[in-house]
Amino acid sequence: MERTFLMVKPDGVERGLIGEVISRIEKKGFRMVAIKMLRISEELAGEHYAEHAGKPFFDEMLSFITSGPVVAMVWEGPGVIQSIREIMGATDPARAEPGTIRRDMGTSISRNVVHGSDSPAAAEREINLFFKDSELLD
Ligand code: CDP
Ligand code: MG
Repeated sequence: MERTFLMVKPDGVERGLIGEVISRIEKKGFRMVAIKMLRISEELAGEHYAEHAGKPFFDEMLSFITSGPVVAMVWEGPGVIQSIREIMGATDPARAEPGTIRRDMGTSISRNVVHGSDSPAAAEREINLFFKDSELLD
């Protein structure tokens, strides 16, 4: 069964949007198999966003993602990786479709409420960064 990694970023946690994000995914019929709240370390942030190292927004993104608690989750279901990307919407809230999380709740490209894996390889990598196998429930 396909699985993906989803995270409510510090802006979403601070603004009380955890429930709304979860609700939208649950209503779509997907199943949560793991969840935890944590404060991301500099090291974990660097690994999670390794593909963006060296980009102009990298340092600011790392300081933002480590600035407060996040909620990390694993979701399961057919086509869940692509479906959650669609429910999230485009990276920049101003360009995201109406009805997506980022359009409805995001306030800027850096404060766009959620992260979701963009491919099966990314999903596997990100799930393993944040969760042990024993933390994923059936
Ligand atoms: O999150 P998503 O996969 O949609 O976008 P990305 O291109 O993988 O970028 C990762 C994250 O970097 C975004 O979600 C933004 O929060 C941040 N970012 C930014 O702050 N400024 C940019 N110009 C591009 C991305
Ligand atoms: Mg990405």
